[in-house]
Amino acid sequence: MHNSSQNGLHVAIIMDGNGRWATRRGLPRVAGHRAGVATVRDVIEHAPELGIRRLTLYAFSSDNWNRPAPEVQSIFWLMRAYLRLETDRLRQRGARLQAIGRRDRIPAALLREIEKAEFATADCKLLDVRVAVDYSSRDSITRTVSALKETVSGSVAESPDFFRGVLTKVLTAESGNVDLLIRTGGEKRLSDFLLWESAYAELYFTERMWPDFGAIDLEAAVSEFSERQRRFGGLPNPASQPTASTTEGAR
Ligand code: FPP
Repeated sequence: MHNSSQNGLHVAIIMDGNGRWATRRGLPRVAGHRAGVATVRDVIEHAPELGIRRLTLYAFSSDNWNRPAPEVQSIFWLMRAYLRLETDRLRQRGARLQAIGRRDRIPAALLREIEKAEFATADCKLLDVRVAVDYSSRDSITRTVSALKETVSGSVAESPDFFRGVLTKVLTAESGNVDLLIRTGGEKRLSDFLLWESAYAELYFTERMWPDFGAIDLEAAVSEFSERQRRFGGLPNPASQPTASTTEGAR
């Protein structure tokens, strides 16, 4: 099943443009990340009323380690502060928080806060919020394949269908198929985010910088998504096709 929208949409967001937002205002880049946290809060608050059941946010890619150390530390500090201050509120609003990505390289204090938030919100059911931290989709796929190689051998390991089935199971169990992938900040790239899970996602790019993005923009993206017809490589749904009489002569 490609579409998870029966249970609500899975929206994934590449939150880009914090640095430029700040620089254009003559502020340090970290001010953009701080303003970006406010957008995270806003988007989480409004997601359920837009039919979103799962929200995956790209907070720190494995490539972001290449940034200057003070900026990296600031981003981790902001995440930690966010979790410390917001976990109760997430819980009250029925939002379950989980982190995806590597856990062995992030600061211990951040990891502790993540684990506390995961534990405190584990039974929340209205919205799944997945924060991608030290995340790389290629790395996630590679590690899944390596783990599989350890456990399977012989003819079964030579069947592409076997690997496709197991990879789908393992990778989509972590994040689920993405229905709509949004990227703010004007770039049109996937940047190693949920590559497997976004195989059939609708892509939505906006010039809006992440700190300027808000509930109205999220609503606009969801509304455009609902107008697009998703075919998953098949033919259009006959029920939504014009009848033969109305298509006569049409191309
Ligand atoms: C991209 O903007 C943004 C990031 C690398 C960090 C995103 C982090 C947050 C919004 C804060 C913490 C998150 C949570 C979930 C509480 P950029 O710096 O690449 O912007 P630029 O392209 O304009 O330089």
